[in-house]
Amino acid sequence: IGDNIGLTPALGWNSWNAWGLSVNDEKVRISARAMADKLSQHGWAYINIDDGWEAENRAADGKIVANSKFPDMKGLTDYVHSLGLRMGIYSSPGPRTCGGFLGSWQHEDQDAQTYGDWGIDYLKYDWCSYSDIAPKPDLAALKKPYEVMRGSLDKVHRDIMYSLCQYGWGDVWNWGAQIGGNSWRTTGDIEDTWQSMSGIGFRQGAAAPHAQPGHFNDPDMLVVGKVGWGPSLHNTRLTYDEQYTHISLWSLLSSPLLIGCDMGHLDEFTLSLLTNDEVIAIDQDALGKAASQYVKKDDYQVWVKDLKDGGKAIGLFNTSDKYQTISLDKNDPAISAYTKFRDVWQQKYIITTGKTLTAKVAPHGVLLVRVEK
Ligand code: GLA
Repeated sequence: IGDNIGLTPALGWNSWNAWGLSVNDEKVRISARAMADKLSQHGWAYINIDDGWEAENRAADGKIVANSKFPDMKGLTDYVHSLGLRMGIYSSPGPRTCGGFLGSWQHEDQDAQTYGDWGIDYLKYDWCSYSDIAPKPDLAALKKPYEVMRGSLDKVHRDIMYSLCQYGWGDVWNWGAQIGGNSWRTTGDIEDTWQSMSGIGFRQGAAAPHAQPGHFNDPDMLVVGKVGWGPSLHNTRLTYDEQYTHISLWSLLSSPLLIGCDMGHLDEFTLSLLTNDEVIAIDQDALGKAASQYVKKDDYQVWVKDLKDGGKAIGLFNTSDKYQTISLDKNDPAISAYTKFRDVWQQKYIITTGKTLTAKVAPHGVLLVRVEK
């Protein structure tokens, strides 16, 4: 169990960026219904509860229990499953989670068993308060809590995706796969600003070569739609073009795509971002490779991802705040073997007669192309 799952990156929703610690049963149900109605036909499947579901104390026998916002975790999981979706949950290896709730410290087997009993399909496992256990962790100490929980999950008769969340410390991309993580966070928490999103996204070059089927880098969740980390919901501060860049770059990187917004109020633009099958297909490509940074200039970048069918996905990113014409020579080794260039956001072939593939790209925007023979 567990060594042959998650062969492509997870597609789902996580409660944190919209609801923070105020997540509850009703919000999860609303999100699940929205996913089933509007997104699941495009491959979206995971409904992941982040921090804030845990009770003040464990039961007398040490079992983890949910707080009053989640009166029936098994019932909620059954409901999510009844919609054809999968259910995820969150914990931390220390005594406390990042939000100050109960962590799994010294209860790893018991917690994994409880998740299995509830029918959980995905565990996001943080780091918070493990620093109390290992104040200055060396590499072995950084790996340890994740190995412990891996062992506990392996004892449960259920496929549970395992997502490590320790912000990239110890260059986790070098060892995340080896210790059985299906994904691992490579960064601190994302925010809905260009600086945060682009800073994280364009820094993924070192981790990229380590992506492989079943084991992916996770540059954190999507900040599209309405986000707010709790009660202060607002529309993402990313412009439309910045959002195209966000989804394009995360797809090129073979990242888990975890929507972080209020799913009860999905606007048309956000829906269009999340339901473009040709873009999702780039994220979900079965080869499981992440794009590499092919060109890096002060005002633009080019990222290239190999695809299973022998084609490539290429992002021409304008990182400046002015319109810019970006070109790739047709003799460039990245594209010289290809004759067809498909704009995947527009879902149409680009007619090019000259010696270059040329696009006028909006400020902070992208041209995402799939090249074919
Ligand atoms: C950390 C993680 C976030 C979220 C919170 C929950 O900050 O990086 O993604 O899970 O903890 O408290």
